[in-house]
Amino acid sequence: MHTIKRSMLVVTLLAGWLGSQEREALGIEQKIDALLSRMTFAEKIGQMTQFSGTDARKEEQIRAGAIGSLLNVIGAAENNRLQKIAVEESRLKIPLIIGNDVIHGYRTIFPIPLAWSASWDTALIRQAARIAAKEARAVGIHWTFAPMVDIARDPRWGRIAEGAGEDPFLGAAIARSLVCGFQGSSLADPQALLACAKHYVAYGGAEGGRDYNTVDISERTLREIYLPPFEAAVRAGAGSLMSAFNEIGGIPASANPLTLRQILKGEWAFTGFVVSDWNSIGELLNHGLAANRIEAGRQSLIAGVDMDMEGLCFTPELEEFVKSGALPEKYVDDAVRRILRMKYRLGLFENPYTDPELSKNVLMQADHLAAARELARRSIVLLKNEKNILPLNLENLKTIAVIGPLADDNNAPLGTWRCQGRPEDVVTVLSGLRQRLAGKVKLLSAKGCDIQKAGQAHFQSAIEKVRQSDVVIMVLGEGAEMSGEAACRSELGLPGEQLNLLRRVAETGKPIVLVLMNGRPLVLSAVEPLATAIVETWHLGVQHGNAVADVLCGDYNPSGKLTVSFPRSVGQIPVYYNHKNTGRPANPGSKYNSKYLDVDNSPLYPFGYGNSYTRFEYSGLKIANTRLQTSEDLRVSVSVKNVGKQAGTEVVQLYVQDLVASVTRPVRELKGFQRVTLSAGQQETVTLRVPVTQLGCYDINLQYRVEPGEFRVYVGGDSRAELSATFNVVAAQ
Ligand code: NOJ
Repeated sequence: MHTIKRSMLVVTLLAGWLGSQEREALGIEQKIDALLSRMTFAEKIGQMTQFSGTDARKEEQIRAGAIGSLLNVIGAAENNRLQKIAVEESRLKIPLIIGNDVIHGYRTIFPIPLAWSASWDTALIRQAARIAAKEARAVGIHWTFAPMVDIARDPRWGRIAEGAGEDPFLGAAIARSLVCGFQGSSLADPQALLACAKHYVAYGGAEGGRDYNTVDISERTLREIYLPPFEAAVRAGAGSLMSAFNEIGGIPASANPLTLRQILKGEWAFTGFVVSDWNSIGELLNHGLAANRIEAGRQSLIAGVDMDMEGLCFTPELEEFVKSGALPEKYVDDAVRRILRMKYRLGLFENPYTDPELSKNVLMQADHLAAARELARRSIVLLKNEKNILPLNLENLKTIAVIGPLADDNNAPLGTWRCQGRPEDVVTVLSGLRQRLAGKVKLLSAKGCDIQKAGQAHFQSAIEKVRQSDVVIMVLGEGAEMSGEAACRSELGLPGEQLNLLRRVAETGKPIVLVLMNGRPLVLSAVEPLATAIVETWHLGVQHGNAVADVLCGDYNPSGKLTVSFPRSVGQIPVYYNHKNTGRPANPGSKYNSKYLDVDNSPLYPFGYGNSYTRFEYSGLKIANTRLQTSEDLRVSVSVKNVGKQAGTEVVQLYVQDLVASVTRPVRELKGFQRVTLSAGQQETVTLRVPVTQLGCYDINLQYRVEPGEFRVYVGGDSRAELSATFNVVAAQ
C-alpha cells in the first residue's frame, strides 16, 4: 500500500513538471499498466492477433478477446458492428484497431507512389496522404499499411511501383511527408490514420528482382541504403512498422533481432509496434527456421514482432514457452503495451465508432480531385521532346490519332493497390484529351492491339486512322496488374504486340508522341528511336487523362524528374546512380575495366532526369565556407536561369562525393534538392544547406562517423550534374 502511495506521489510530482504531451503519455502508460494487470495470457495474445475480413467464428473470437485487430473490413457500418462486439461484448472492452492498404488514396486515387515521387514535391505528397487519411477514417479505418519505403534498384521487381525509387535521401524525405500526412498533427485527431512503414527491411533487395526472394546484403548496405527511409519514418512518429517476407543473409526479416530489437527498438527507441506481413511469421516454416507455427511465433516475438497478421503463430499455446522459460513474458507484455499505446493514442477507447453518414461528405470531394490532378501532372516526366513537338501546336493541328491499348483504359491508371478506387471514376487519356480539345481538333482513336495478348488483327484499322492524322499520340505500357505485389517481369520492354504496333505506326512517317503508362522503369532502347516525344505518365490515378491533357496541350509545363534509373537493357540491372567507383572504373578505350562488351554502363535515362518545355542553365556555384567543422552546415549557392520562352519548374539537385574515406563511398549521393519556379528569362540564386553530420559513413567497425577530408559537391538538374566544387571537413579542434 505504502509503495503504491509513494509511486503515485512520484507520478503526481512528475506530472507537475511535464508538458501536456508528456503528461498525456504518462497517463496512457498508467492506463496500460492497469489494463495489463487484468489481462489473461490469452487476452494478451488476442491483442497481438490480426485477421483479414470476418465470419461467425472470428466474431466469436473478438467477443472472447482473442482478436485485437482486423484488416480488409469495408464500410463504416460493418466496422462499427464488429467494433461493438469488441467494446461492448468482450470482457475487457478493448477496441479493435482496423487496418487497410490505403496506399495512394482511398477512393480518390492519386498517382502510384513511384509516380508521385517523381514530383519531388514533398508538400503535395503529404497533402495526398492527408486526403487519403480523411477519406479512410471516414469509413472507420484507423490504420494504413503505408508508407512503403523500400528502396528499389531493380525494376524487374513489381513492387518498385509502391515506393519512392532508388535513393535513400529522397526516400527518407518522402517517408517523412507520408507519415506526417497520414497521421496529421496528432493521432488523436479524428482524421488521423496510423501509419505503418513497410516492409522492414531490405525487401527491395530481392535476388533477380523476384518477389519474396532471398536478400543477401551487408550490414553496411543495410544501414546506408535500406534503413534510412525507415529511420526517417520512425523519427517522424510512425506508429507502426511491418516486418517483411524476405530473409537478410540467412535471417528472415520477421525474426531478425538485429533489425527489430537492436536497431528499431534499441538504437531508434521506437515506441510503436511491429506487425508482421501476411503470414510472414508462419513462413518461417518455409524458410526452414522453425518446425511449427508456435515455435515460429516464439522466435518472431523474441526478435521483436508485436502483432501477427494472418499467421496463426501468436496463440495462447505460447504460454507453455513462458512456463518453460523459453519465452520471457516481458516480450509479450511489451508487445501488448505497444499495441495498446497506439489504440489509446488514436482515441479508440473514447471514440471507437465512426458516423456512418460521414463518408457521404468526405469521399471524392472537389478539392480532393483538384489535389489528385495537381499531383498527377507534377508526377509526369518528359523523357524526350525532339523538335519541340510538345506542347502540341493546337493552331496547326486538324486531326490527331490517339492509338494504343491504354488510350481509353480506365483500369490501368488506378495502378496497384487501388483501395476503393473505381474505374468509372477514372478520366482516361482519350477522355481527357476529348474534353480539352472539343471543338478545336478532331480526334480519331483505335486500340490497335491488346496490352499483353498476341495478335495484330487490329493493326490495319489503327494505321488507317494514323494516315488521316497530323500527329499520333500512342498510349502504351503496362496494365495495373503488371506491377505491385507478385508482379515481377524478366523482360522490361513494351509487353505483347505494342512494340510491333509502334513500329508499324512509325513506318507511316507521322510524328509520334508516346505516352507511357507503367508501374516501373521500362527498357526503352528499342522504343526511343521511334518516337518524337516520350512522356512518362506511370499510373496517375483518377485524374490521369486530365493530367496528360494538361501536359500535352501545354497547360502545365512538365517538371517531374525520375527517381529511378531507366536501364538500357535488362542485363545491366541493377543500375543506379549512387554506385561505387570500383578499382577499375569503366574506360571505353581499354579492355580490363568494369564494363560490358555490348552496352554502355550508363542508364538510358538517369536518376533525377526529366525535361521541361523550357531550359534551365546553372552557373556560379559557390560554397560559403570551404573548411567545415562537423557541427556546421555546408551552404551551397547556385544561380539558376530559365533561358527558355515560358515559365517552368526545375528540381535543383545537390550531390556530394566523399573523395577519400576509410571505406569505399559512392561516386555521388543526393544530399539536397529544391523545386524552383522561374518565369521566362528569370534568374534566381538557390541556396541549399546540408548539415555536415549528414556526410558521414559507417566505418570499418560500422560506427557512423564524419571523416575529415576533401569532398566534392555537384549541383544540377539530374544525377549527371557537372557543375562542381570541393570543400574540406576538418577535424574538431
Ligand atoms: C501483403 C503485402 O506484402 C503488404 O504490403 C500488405 O500490406 C499486406 N499484404 C496486407 O494486405
